[in-house]
Amino acid sequence: MSSNQLDKKSEAWSALFSEPMSELVKRYTASVFFDKRLWLADITGSLAHAEMLAAQGVITAADRAEIERGMAQIRSEIEAGTFEWKLDLEDVHLNIEARLTQLVGDAGKRLHTGRSRNDQVATDVRLWLRDEIDLISDLLKELQVALVDVAEQNVDVILPGFTHLQVAQPVSFAHHLLAYVEMFSRDAERMGDVRRRTNRLPLGSAALAGTTYPLDRERVARTLGMEGVCQNSLDGVSDRDFAIEFTAAASLCMVHISRFSEELILWMSQNFGFVKIADRFTTGSSIMPQKKNPDVPELARGKTGRVVGHLMGLITLMKGQPLAYNKDNQEDKEPLFDTVDTLKDTLRIFCEMVGGQPNPVTGQKEGGITVNAIAMEAAANKGYATATDLADYLVKKGLPFRDAHETVAHAVKAATSHNCDLSELPLSVLQGFHPSIEKDVFDVLSLRGSLNARNTLGGTAPAQVRTQIARHRQRLA
Ligand code: ARG
Repeated sequence: MSSNQLDKKSEAWSALFSEPMSELVKRYTASVFFDKRLWLADITGSLAHAEMLAAQGVITAADRAEIERGMAQIRSEIEAGTFEWKLDLEDVHLNIEARLTQLVGDAGKRLHTGRSRNDQVATDVRLWLRDEIDLISDLLKELQVALVDVAEQNVDVILPGFTHLQVAQPVSFAHHLLAYVEMFSRDAERMGDVRRRTNRLPLGSAALAGTTYPLDRERVARTLGMEGVCQNSLDGVSDRDFAIEFTAAASLCMVHISRFSEELILWMSQNFGFVKIADRFTTGSSIMPQKKNPDVPELARGKTGRVVGHLMGLITLMKGQPLAYNKDNQEDKEPLFDTVDTLKDTLRIFCEMVGGQPNPVTGQKEGGITVNAIAMEAAANKGYATATDLADYLVKKGLPFRDAHETVAHAVKAATSHNCDLSELPLSVLQGFHPSIEKDVFDVLSLRGSLNARNTLGGTAPAQVRTQIARHRQRLA
């Protein structure tokens, strides 16, 4: 190579090629317009590699200093938006290396000693994803705190609990929200697990078989804050499990968001009227003036499909690949990037939609979910939500549960035909179903009595819910 500059990517490999790439093939094979977002990870990885090469005597201290000087300039050019990304240079790695060589000459050409783009790209994606996982973990925590805040305000608010979307038993609205806190806490746990397996170093695997230079891979791992070194070079360059695992964890998190969205959509409908979300998360209709549509939860539900699609894309990408690196792997980036973007935006918007925004004057959060406790309780009063409590009452009086169940079914039938609740049937009528029923039955037929009675670990009794809130507060502090 005569010039100091790699202008065309064919110059990055050799004079072996006798014809240039067509424009279409260039565009088809290039990744720079999406993988340029890895630039900071690419520079960070290169600097750690250069530091180690110098420490091992593979390059001189002067070369390393030149590489650092050049990279500092590239960094400021990229940050300033003046860096010229070239399609001809295919990807982020060749673009940065070419500019480095242009800036610092031979030292730049020495940077690639003992490495290949195969271990370089695997390292970059892992470094980038590790930092994104940390941002996502912070957002998951923020969302849990927002949910616990709303829960704390609503421990004594009664919501009809559903199975099959039929009224089942009354639950505390806080208890219902805390179910989502459990889901998001598992999501955060999963992100932590994925982070450990993401945070391992492929660099030093070189193209596929390792390298002849005396590299100190552990040193590079330490410099980059990685928890370990990939122990097999073939696996190091070709493993994308971490990307699949991450997308699986992200999919599950989106599924939780989607379930929550579905509930918000139902709860906001006129037929439920349980909650309101701030107007800025809704839109009107161009034809029906009365409408306020829950666009944000609906879109989040829709975007779940897109993230699950990325999981399918990534896992299918890997299934037929022989060892080691194949160009197929370049296709890992767009699904991974879009998964990260979608999940982060969705979590951010849910944090605000649930918890509100701090008032600039008071600092107090406002504009989060508003709860219509009266509508919730009225709905819980429909549908015989305390029928199980009546059955349990009869069991305590000595009836076998199956018989109690049958007896209560008759009582519900009678109440239905009188168009009233069980608690509205006169004592004499109730006694007609079983003589052991006494006046104290009305304690268990009330929604609050029903709630208080479920006072076992994980149950909906307000005392239990308060214990859980305290546990979450401690965990999230
Ligand atoms: N842009 C490539 C990718 O994302 C970098 C690695 C290229 N390696 C190669 N042998 N062509 O996978």
